[in-house]
Amino acid sequence: MGKSTSLSPFYLYLILIILSQVSSFLAADDSVYGSFFHCLTNHTNSSDQTSNIVFAQTNSSFSSVLRSYIRNARFNTTSTPKPLIIVTPLQESHVQGTVICAKTIGIQMKIRSGGHDYEGISYISDEPFIILDMFNLRKITVDVQNEVAVIQAGATLGEVYYSIWEKSKVHGFPAGVCPTVGVGGHLSGGGYGNMLRKHGLSVDHVIDAQIVDVNGRLLDKESMGEDLFWAIRGGGGASFGVIVSYTVKLVPVPETVTVFRVGKTLEENATDLVLQWQQVAPHTDDRLFMRLLLQPVTSKVKKGQKTVRASVVALFLGGADEVVTILEKEFPLLGLKKETCIESSWIESVIWWGDFDNGTRPNALLDRNYSAKFLKRKSDYVQNPISRDGLEGIWKKMIELGKTGFVFNPYGGKMWEIPADTTPFPHRAGNLFKIQYSVNWDDPSAEATKNFTTQASSLYSYMTPFVSKNPRSSYLNYRDLDIGINDFAKNSYEQGEVYGAKYFNSNFDRLVKIKTAVDPENFFRNEQSIPVSPRLQSAAENLLQSSLFQKLVLSLTCLLAFLNNAMLYS
Ligand SMILES: Cc1cc2nc3c(=O)[nH]c(=O)nc-3n(C[C@H](O)[C@H](O)[C@H](O)COP(=O)(O)OP(=O)(O)OC[C@H]3O[C@@H](n4cnc5c(N)ncnc54)[C@H](O)[C@@H]3O)c2cc1C
Ligand SMILES: *[C@@H]1O[C@H](CO)[C@@H](O)[C@H](O)[C@H]1NC(C)=O
Ligand SMILES: *[C@@H]1O[C@H](CO)[C@@H](O)[C@H](O)[C@H]1NC(C)=O
Ligand SMILES: *[C@@H]1O[C@H](CO)[C@@H](O)[C@H](O)[C@H]1NC(C)=O
Ligand SMILES: *[C@@H]1O[C@H](CO)[C@@H](O)[C@H](O)[C@H]1NC(C)=O
Ligand SMILES: *[C@@H]1O[C@H](CO)[C@@H](O)[C@H](O)[C@H]1NC(C)=O
Ligand SMILES: *[C@@H]1O[C@H](CO)[C@@H](O)[C@H](O)[C@H]1NC(C)=O
Ligand SMILES: *[C@@H]1O[C@H](CO)[C@@H](O)[C@H](O)[C@H]1NC(C)=O
Ligand SMILES: *[C@@H]1O[C@H](CO)[C@@H](O)[C@H](O)[C@H]1NC(C)=O
Repeated sequence: MGKSTSLSPFYLYLILIILSQVSSFLAADDSVYGSFFHCLTNHTNSSDQTSNIVFAQTNSSFSSVLRSYIRNARFNTTSTPKPLIIVTPLQESHVQGTVICAKTIGIQMKIRSGGHDYEGISYISDEPFIILDMFNLRKITVDVQNEVAVIQAGATLGEVYYSIWEKSKVHGFPAGVCPTVGVGGHLSGGGYGNMLRKHGLSVDHVIDAQIVDVNGRLLDKESMGEDLFWAIRGGGGASFGVIVSYTVKLVPVPETVTVFRVGKTLEENATDLVLQWQQVAPHTDDRLFMRLLLQPVTSKVKKGQKTVRASVVALFLGGADEVVTILEKEFPLLGLKKETCIESSWIESVIWWGDFDNGTRPNALLDRNYSAKFLKRKSDYVQNPISRDGLEGIWKKMIELGKTGFVFNPYGGKMWEIPADTTPFPHRAGNLFKIQYSVNWDDPSAEATKNFTTQASSLYSYMTPFVSKNPRSSYLNYRDLDIGINDFAKNSYEQGEVYGAKYFNSNFDRLVKIKTAVDPENFFRNEQSIPVSPRLQSAAENLLQSSLFQKLVLSLTCLLAFLNNAMLYS
């Protein structure tokens, strides 16, 4: 039997299946669009107007819709994987229909709000995928009386700040400093800005949310339950469902705040400044946030040589006289003078921190245009002050590498008061400051990308002795695929544990339990999502088989294309 030269019925059957899959794969664009559109129409009411929210690859607007929210030029190339379709919901029912239909068709769905993910995972995938693009769902309702705002996921932080300012000059919200960042990713991943020492993270002020779950149900805090509500306040929304809106509590801001920037190079004793900054910044008055930027620059004193510039960029929730008095005493090496301070309203401080020109009107915060650079980011946490010797070694390394800089963000205040398991974001007491590694470039060549990402990795490796260990912690919103990725094959849980422990420390286990309960088949997945519990191995194995199958189909497609070419040229 085994020696028969004819194909066994089983193999014949397999080949037929594969061929039919190959032909459907070749027509994937059309067939996914067709089946998706059909399904969506069936799952939404006729009055819901689904006809203008689904963009096929062949649609003339496809590229511009896709590019509108690409915020890292590294992922704006012809070889960057593209979605088969982009869906741009105008109302909740469109989100519900999209989830149900993507699941029915069996295609991966990526969710994008502001598109600021540093690794582009909201709009890229290695498997066939569609994008659910939330930018139209951007309504913000501010209720000053109750100090509450309801914010849809597609709103930007700039729109949030502007909408609050329209209603009140003495309220604000603690979130990131870049106005184009989206609420969907930012709030579901933690969210911090220059009020974190006084008010903590954005998620510390979330009091309700709306989410579409894997069954297409629209849930609020009460109907989703305590666990899921906990998970989407720092655990990353994309592992659990589609966030439609967050309801947040506003915070009070004084009528007058103060900002300043003071910089010194190594020749101007920047090392002493940084040593003192480590002693002061995490412990001082919690109304004061002093970010420290460290950048390799060309020396003005020593011709042709490089140096490091340390700049303190600050927000004080109070007047200039008061902050000058505090810092004369605590941080004399800064040498802060009142003339260096700028007193302003809170919204003007937002504009100043956003690097807009002096005198820019608040409506600039509504501008969604943004010219994206090529960039790479990484993160670390520092729990013990770095010594003078340590700093001097770091400067040498930065100068040698040439371009990668650091942003040190001091913790303390409210960040140390909130227990590490109150939200999935675990980096609270015990952390002096967070480091962001930052390198930007303009050269689009693959070689430049390799050079600069390698440079950031070298610096990361050099920093090992100075930062948190077991695990070496990272901030989810500073997405970094170097710290581990998931292919959702056999070792999905183990792979997830690698990056999960870094992002969530001991909160990872609870996130896995919640994930397993709300999305056991892992529909909501990405390169660094929360895996399901290993006890649900069978689900994982099904996925393995389907992904192996996809690879088989892909290789066959390539083979066919090759044969086709060979015939053409023979
Ligand atoms: C220029 C710049 C400045 C930044 N500044 C800060 C800062 O000051 N403070 C800070 O904390 N972070 C900052 N970040 C990081 C930022 O918080 C994260 O990149 C954040 O995830 C961006 O959210 P987004 O909606 O714009 O991104 P997206 O790329 O749209 O999404 C990011 C992740 O969230 C998921 N997601 C998005 N929307 C939803 C949704 N509605 N439901 C479920 N999942 C969703 C995506 O699938 C993806 O996994 C900055 C980033 C950039 C590029
Ligand atoms: C339309 O949706 C219903 C469920 O809402 C389903 O039973 C039916 O099969 C769907 N029809 C098509 C053609 O997809
Ligand atoms: C259509 O609308 C009705 C009434 O608003 C609602 O009960 C029903 O669930 C809707 N159907 C779909 C598929 O959304
Ligand atoms: C492109 O898709 C949009 C959204 O579905 C639709 O409104 C538009 O008519 C399409 N344009 C073309 C040229 O097909
Ligand atoms: C992406 O590329 C297009 C075409 O080259 C360009 O017009 C656009 O500005 C780029 N966008 C980003 C975010 O780099
Ligand atoms: C740097 O420190 C040295 C020694 O403390 C001091 O003599 C010098 O004036 C300082 N330089 C500057 C620019 O502050
Ligand atoms: C901005 O301009 C105003 C006057 O137009 C001035 O008083 C203020 O100091 C300026 N701020 C900065 C940062 O230059
Ligand atoms: C933003 O871009 C749009 C479209 O390209 C353009 O019409 C608009 O003028 C730009 N806005 C600003 C403030 O540059
Ligand atoms: C990449 O790095 C190498 C070695 O340092 C250098 O020679 C080359 O010019 C760099 N290329 C780019 C594009 O930056």
